[in-house]
Amino acid sequence: MQEPTQLLVMEKVSKSFPGVKALDNVSLTVKAGTVHALMGENGAGKSTLMKCLFGIYAKDDGHIYLEGKEIDFKSSREALDNGVAMVHQELNQALKRSVMDNIWLGRYPKIKGLPIVSEKQMYTDTKKVFEELGINVNPKTIMSTMPVSQRQMVEIAKAVSFNAKVLVFDEPTSSLTEKEVDHLFRIINMLKARGCGIIYISHKMEEILRISDEVTIMRDGQYVATKAAQDLTMNEIIKLMVGRELTNRFPPKEYQVGNEVVLKVENMTAMYSALQNVSFSLKKGEIVGIAGLDGSGRTELLENIFGSANRKEGKLILRGKEIHNRTPKESISNGFAMVTEERRATGIFSIMSIRDNTVISSLKKYLNHHAYLSNKAMAKGTDWSIKAMHIKTPSQSTKIRALSGGNQQKVIFGRWMLTQPEIFLLDEPTRGIDVGAKYEIYQLIMDMAKNGKSVMMVSSEMPELLGVCDRILVMSGGRLAGEVDAKTATQEEIMTLAAKYV
Ligand SMILES: Nc1ncnc2c1ncn2[C@@H]1O[C@H](COP(=O)(O)OP(=O)(O)OP(=O)(O)O)[C@@H](O)[C@H]1O
Ligand SMILES: [Mg+2]
Repeated sequence: MQEPTQLLVMEKVSKSFPGVKALDNVSLTVKAGTVHALMGENGAGKSTLMKCLFGIYAKDDGHIYLEGKEIDFKSSREALDNGVAMVHQELNQALKRSVMDNIWLGRYPKIKGLPIVSEKQMYTDTKKVFEELGINVNPKTIMSTMPVSQRQMVEIAKAVSFNAKVLVFDEPTSSLTEKEVDHLFRIINMLKARGCGIIYISHKMEEILRISDEVTIMRDGQYVATKAAQDLTMNEIIKLMVGRELTNRFPPKEYQVGNEVVLKVENMTAMYSALQNVSFSLKKGEIVGIAGLDGSGRTELLENIFGSANRKEGKLILRGKEIHNRTPKESISNGFAMVTEERRATGIFSIMSIRDNTVISSLKKYLNHHAYLSNKAMAKGTDWSIKAMHIKTPSQSTKIRALSGGNQQKVIFGRWMLTQPEIFLLDEPTRGIDVGAKYEIYQLIMDMAKNGKSVMMVSSEMPELLGVCDRILVMSGGRLAGEVDAKTATQEEIMTLAAKYV
């Protein structure tokens, strides 16, 4: 018998995939009216555990009880019908359809007695859900016209609309703005007050400590510990996750940036966004951070330099010579590479292997003297990437979609490292990456700079900018509000500049 407060009990759940024991006897108990955080490194098994609950994967072993009754959902439909809802790590929406279509897909309200969808009913039902949650979106908007963060909010509203008792949020905030995170937390607190049990997965420590009541930590498919959030510090969580003490969050800086200017950007102004008149220069071996609030033009600046957004005006001077970077292709041939913010949406060939996904942007490098692609050389490149990025995979030929979300990100990062760019543009390079692997990525970025390459990186995490960069440009309302020296600047200084043109 389960105690009544034990809403969900997962007992000794195991699950294997070819070559991987993803879950090994994992147990988890979620009490009604609480937020239970699930933490662990990339590939620890968090998403897999939740997919076993939600009927996407069949567990090999173990038991799951909901309100004391054993359950074993065979599909997500069955889970939803029985009070379990999930917001997935990867958004999977019908982008050409409307918001309300996406919410009611598969359970459309019908006109009484007829097999016809009642658009009117659907509209009012959606309105009702949105009003209750304080979401300000027209139900008739086409999904593809909305920013990812709003699409994510729609997904959250959809999960709530099933009136579930247990709600799983798998990295829900990876593409939300700060304001939306606050909004989500208000929604979660409302659900908590209704007696729901919330399972919350995130790599953001601050969030975990802010929203959760209890924390369960997993490592390599195994259960490590469950503790009350109030008894945990960030360092303790890291230690439990990684299995060792991480004394430094950032690698030491051990070189000096020279004076040689590699790239000059003059008057960069975007055609379709607020970005205007941004000028600065980038030195050889320099890591320049770009700070600012969401919507301040950080991503647009990188996109305009890389040619993936339309420029209205602006000049690029590479080592004293004007270049144009009209398209990403042209930029790549000029020695640029860009890791985008939405890696999973824009960068992954999901049914292809890890090797193919790794070498695809540097194929020229792998031609042998007969002008054929050399398997040996491609294997070597991929091997380097897997080792350097600590990618958790059974083999190079594994399909990328079988990797955990964080490990997919690492493959894409490795792909661009292998192109050996002179100028590396990074948009939120460590989003969705666990703490241990973040350190490795910082090290790789710093090594590149040490080898004379230049890096520009956008990040919403200020400690990361201060810890990794030499200099930080602060954007505000599409303009460059100022720049600070990363060695001496404070977060307050950056925040003040970020608010300059808001
Ligand atoms: N469909 C699948 N086929 C094969 N292996 C899989 C599949 N899904 C997950 N795995 C493997 O199971 C392990 C756990 O993956 P899971 O996605 O649960 O990790 P996670 O803790 O959610 O990580 P992240 O923080 O990166 O999202 C990984 O080694 C992954 O490669
Ligand atoms: Mg996951």
